[in-house]
Amino acid sequence: VGRTSAAVTGKSFQARLIEHFRRARRDTDLAVLEGFHALKHALRFEAELVEVVATDPEEVLVLAAALAPDLVELLQARMQTVSADVLSALAPRAPRTGVMATAKRPHIDVRQVIDEPASAPIVLLEDPRHMGNLGACIRVAAAADAAAVLCTGPNDPWHPEAIRGAAGLHFALPVVHLHELVNSDRPLVAIDPDGDDLVPGRLPPRSILAFGTERHGLSDQLLTSAAMRLRIPMRPGVSSLNLATSVAAVLYAWRFASMDGLGS
Ligand SMILES: C[S@@+](CC[C@H](N)C(=O)[O-])C[C@H]1O[C@@H](n2cnc3c(N)ncnc32)[C@H](O)[C@@H]1O
Repeated sequence: VGRTSAAVTGKSFQARLIEHFRRARRDTDLAVLEGFHALKHALRFEAELVEVVATDPEEVLVLAAALAPDLVELLQARMQTVSADVLSALAPRAPRTGVMATAKRPHIDVRQVIDEPASAPIVLLEDPRHMGNLGACIRVAAAADAAAVLCTGPNDPWHPEAIRGAAGLHFALPVVHLHELVNSDRPLVAIDPDGDDLVPGRLPPRSILAFGTERHGLSDQLLTSAAMRLRIPMRPGVSSLNLATSVAAVLYAWRFASMDGLGS
């Protein structure tokens, strides 16, 4: 029997837990995982958990048995029971699945990520604003097996809303908040509605694929430093795709071409 059977109700425990989650939201060494899917992927990709709490651990185990049987035992050993009131104090929107966790963020060496010789592209998001959208970019980058997601601008890609949007897939590939652009020998490719048509199979190996901010697109600085500028073809009258949709279209153009042996 794991800790799941014991409801922890002590006032000091609850206060400590609320303080821990509150601090974790601002701590750049920690990640807050809201809901079952974020926790599931974090565990699959070997996150180091700190706290795991659930309002009904048995219900979480039923969900795990259906969706992630590989994780049942691990979850059973880690979950602590909390009341619905405590759970709702741990996040602005308590997750429907009634489970939350904190985990240590992995340490990532950006230089090593950029110097990686394998051909998979890196996704560079320039100043993304919408955390759910940012999470969706990370989710598709993990699925397509991109080398990393790098983000510029003030928003932390490890924001709990972005982790929720990525279903916890931050632990599946390097996700880094860049405070300044890093020198690289990789070809910089601006993905921009005013570029030349993207031809699957012609993306250079080891590209850095740069996507612009939701409202204004890529900065002039990035456009002028790019080796090429490519567009996803659209029907006349449509001005642009959503940011995460365009990341998905380009990454899967690369992925399908490399599966067919066409490209990098
Ligand atoms: C919502 S769009 C920005 C729209 C902005 N008004 C513009 O013209 O770039 C966000 C990002 O998605 C990418 N994007 C959207 N539609 C695209 C397309 N058809 N071709 C290439 N990139 C596109 C670009 O990287 C763009 O900066």
